[in-house]
Amino acid sequence: MLGVRCLLRSVRFCSSAPFPRHKPSAKLSVRDALGAQNTSGERIKVQGWIRSVRSQKEVLFLHVNDGSSLESLQIVADSSLDSRELTFGSSVEIQGQLVKSPSKRQNVELKAEKIKIIGNCDAKAFPIKYKERHPLEYLRQYPHFRCRTNVLGSILRIRSEATAAIHSFFKDSGFIHIHTPIITSNDSEGAGELFQLEPSGKLKVPEENFFNVPAFLTVSGQLHLEVMSGAFTQVFTFGPTFRAENSQSRRHLAEFYMVEAEISFVNSLQDLMQVIEELFKATAMMVLSNCPEDVELCHKFIAPGQKDRLEHMLKNNFLIISYTEAVEILKQASQNFTFTPEWGVNLQTEHEKYLVKHCGNIPVFIINYPLAIKPFYMRDNEDGPQHTVAAVDLLVPGVGELFGGGLREERYHFLEERLARSGLTEVYQWYLDLRRFGSVPHGGFGMGFERYLQCILGVDNIKDVIPFPRKRKNNSFQLLLLVDTGPWRCLQVIGLHLLSFFGFQLLLLVDTGPWRCLQVIGLHLLSFFG
Ligand code: 4AD
Ligand code: MG
Repeated sequence: MLGVRCLLRSVRFCSSAPFPRHKPSAKLSVRDALGAQNTSGERIKVQGWIRSVRSQKEVLFLHVNDGSSLESLQIVADSSLDSRELTFGSSVEIQGQLVKSPSKRQNVELKAEKIKIIGNCDAKAFPIKYKERHPLEYLRQYPHFRCRTNVLGSILRIRSEATAAIHSFFKDSGFIHIHTPIITSNDSEGAGELFQLEPSGKLKVPEENFFNVPAFLTVSGQLHLEVMSGAFTQVFTFGPTFRAENSQSRRHLAEFYMVEAEISFVNSLQDLMQVIEELFKATAMMVLSNCPEDVELCHKFIAPGQKDRLEHMLKNNFLIISYTEAVEILKQASQNFTFTPEWGVNLQTEHEKYLVKHCGNIPVFIINYPLAIKPFYMRDNEDGPQHTVAAVDLLVPGVGELFGGGLREERYHFLEERLARSGLTEVYQWYLDLRRFGSVPHGGFGMGFERYLQCILGVDNIKDVIPFPRKRKNNSFQLLLLVDTGPWRCLQVIGLHLLSFFGFQLLLLVDTGPWRCLQVIGLHLLSFFG
């Protein structure tokens, strides 16, 4: 008891103790320091990484960045300071006075009183070099360092801002956010591009399934959103999505983020297209107004001319054409396509690109696709002789397909028949049940988030808009490995790579002629070397 009383007394004493005489410096982010109104010498502390060091006769200038903004904070220190360890890339903590800068280049600067080196960086060995504008291809070799460059910093801040913008768009429009599962047993797209999930070696019991049924990483949250749309009229999800696609294209990843929405009591594609267009435009506007410097950097250095192209997309109404019209346009095109356009066959990237150009580089909705090429859940248009479903894709400049969606088949007997025809009735009994108990007309869509970023920023390769790209045969990672493992292993892997490449693609190349063949080999080698 006595002990407790003593403890209480000591606590009381601590809580009423006077403040230490020197008020500790307030910790500010670089962004907040740059935007500070009070520049009359307030003591602050910043932490970050050195982006540049310039030594003059009497002063030493440093630029420090902490990822909160594209601009770095200028630090002014006494030249008597030992600057040998103040190298590009080292992490530092600086205390000093925030003052108005005499230079026009920045509003404020930090007059350093104390500089503490937290982590050294050997600038010579560091793969990111001071003042160099490294190409994105080079940076891809260093997934663990590239976030420290201006360009990746800007892209990743924009990505974060766009994520927030998408959430506020849906929140402001009255949608409920649903966390759909990552582990699932269904293949909603029916394309079989699934990653199967099993316990690792030690935990694996032969002949036994961990979940009792085969489990996969999700290819789409749509079916789970449809369940939710039986209780909430507007729902959305935004999360990682996985596809084991055998594609080396600049717009496919094995792990990407998808924004998906599902709306109940919707009878026409028009209603869905309106939400899609609003989502596209509202998100872009929010990004433009919240991170103008980052967007400008991308538009200036990665994709010159992209600013005008984006404005063009934002100020025009998106166009709508039917799949049948699209095929007619392609058939009449003077361009020779590798894949001949034909009704009943999926549109290829080259077709999508042509259609967008044909529509004046304005995003274009393609609606009413052939029933035979779309998954079982698409609503039957009951037309003919060319039988279609109420599906919609949005094609955009530079990327091609950005959104995919449509009206869902809410009529029990139609869905039952479609499932039976594909031998899926048993597996999707629960899905069929949704049509037995309070079914409503509904529809939705999915948008590839990385493709969206590519589209608004003009970034050519999808690997550059995601922090850690996951893709079949991640070649740039291989290069790192090769440098580490020596020349013999390097030759072995290149040999194996070329063998597998020719084995898989020979057929395609023979079909497309020698010039295309050379082009593809060239591109492939380029991408392999990073
Ligand atoms: O067109 P998809 O396959 O549509 C669906 O999955 C629907 N179930 C969505 C829905 O209606 N809720 O995929 C939607 C979008 C595509 O238009 C594309 O932008 C993106 O997801 N996407 C990919 N992005 C990057 N890498 C990949 N491998 C992608 N596959 C699809
Ligand atoms: Mg699609």
